[in-house]
Amino acid sequence: MWKIGVVGAGYWSDKHLQAWRRIPGVQIQGLCDPDKSRLYSKAEAYDIPEDKLYGTLEEMLAAADIDVVDIITPPDTHPELVGRAARAGKHIMCQKPFAHSMEEAREMVEAAKAAEVRLMVTENWRWLQPMQAIKELLNSGAAGLLHTIRYIHTDYYSPRFAPENELPQPFFREMPRLLFYEMGVHWHDTWRFLFGDPKRIYAETRRVSPYITGEDAGLITLGYEDYMGFMDMSWATRQNLPGLLTMPVLPEHKEQLIIEGDQATLKLYSSGTLSLIDNSGMETIVTENNGLDFEESHFRLQSHFIHCLNTGEEFQTSGEDNLKTLELVFGTYRSAEEHEVIHFGQR
Ligand SMILES: NC(=O)c1ccc[n+]([C@@H]2O[C@H](COP(=O)([O-])OP(=O)(O)OC[C@H]3O[C@@H](n4cnc5c(N)ncnc54)[C@H](O)[C@@H]3O)[C@@H](O)[C@H]2O)c1
Repeated sequence: MWKIGVVGAGYWSDKHLQAWRRIPGVQIQGLCDPDKSRLYSKAEAYDIPEDKLYGTLEEMLAAADIDVVDIITPPDTHPELVGRAARAGKHIMCQKPFAHSMEEAREMVEAAKAAEVRLMVTENWRWLQPMQAIKELLNSGAAGLLHTIRYIHTDYYSPRFAPENELPQPFFREMPRLLFYEMGVHWHDTWRFLFGDPKRIYAETRRVSPYITGEDAGLITLGYEDYMGFMDMSWATRQNLPGLLTMPVLPEHKEQLIIEGDQATLKLYSSGTLSLIDNSGMETIVTENNGLDFEESHFRLQSHFIHCLNTGEEFQTSGEDNLKTLELVFGTYRSAEEHEVIHFGQR
């Protein structure tokens, strides 16, 4: 039985708590958050008894019998929490974005190594159904040799960041780096999962909304030996709106991918339909309903974490692996600031 201590009872903790309750061989042994009202409301929702609730990780480590610390707090808290959990000899799952800088990220990876504990970054995007289905098609060779990849993300968050609107994650407004830090870690990780590590990138970013500090739109060109890619990511676009926007403000993420190879073009429509267009021009639907299934993605991701603890297999998104994703994220900002191509060495 793996005994889990959860740190952070905020917006996204529901996804973690729901998944832990479904995975065999797992028990939630503690939940901590200094915000008492959040702590008690999650405890009630997930039947966690009062004697398993704590104000801090320190208290939880001292009192609860746990093997794993699951960190669901903002990035500025990660170095302290990861360091503390590692020194206590606990395996760690830590939410994205893992760190504010490469130095911080490397220090956390080293801390886990020194303490001989396992460390995985909670990167759920690659575990979404459409990404898993695309990976399977690419592995089967359905598209053949790739030459051009386009990844498009749209949402219409920008005007809805206005101060009078209630946001699920109000801290977005103040983040100096927003879209490619908060979401870019997902996109770069998913891109690496599907297409491998690029050799160079060039980025342009923009702030469209007047209500935020960071950027809410951007374009990235990605260069490989054999193929080229393009990310067109925006929270400032009216594309594919589901109808009139409602209150409260919630994300309306839409993802599209167009993957061109010498055998076929693979298309993910924002509706969740996946199709193949062959060399005769015939389009065949492969599967439908590949929606952004966040709850299931967490079940797959957390099941993978437990599977790797049981077998000793490498985590797909270990702390060490995530360093490569973060290099792409910070490279995106450097490229956009300096208007320079960023080259990556042997990766
Ligand atoms: N993987 C995803 O798709 C996804 C989605 C949303 C959020 N996230 C990430 O999850 C993290 C948390 O996001 P959120 O939206 O739940 O934020 P949130 O602000 O709603 O919740 C964070 C909680 O952590 C608590 N906290 C802060 N410092 C703490 C500490 N030292 N010890 C214990 N608790 C502490 C806060 O009191 C708060 O309740 C962020 O890094 C965010 O980027 C990931």
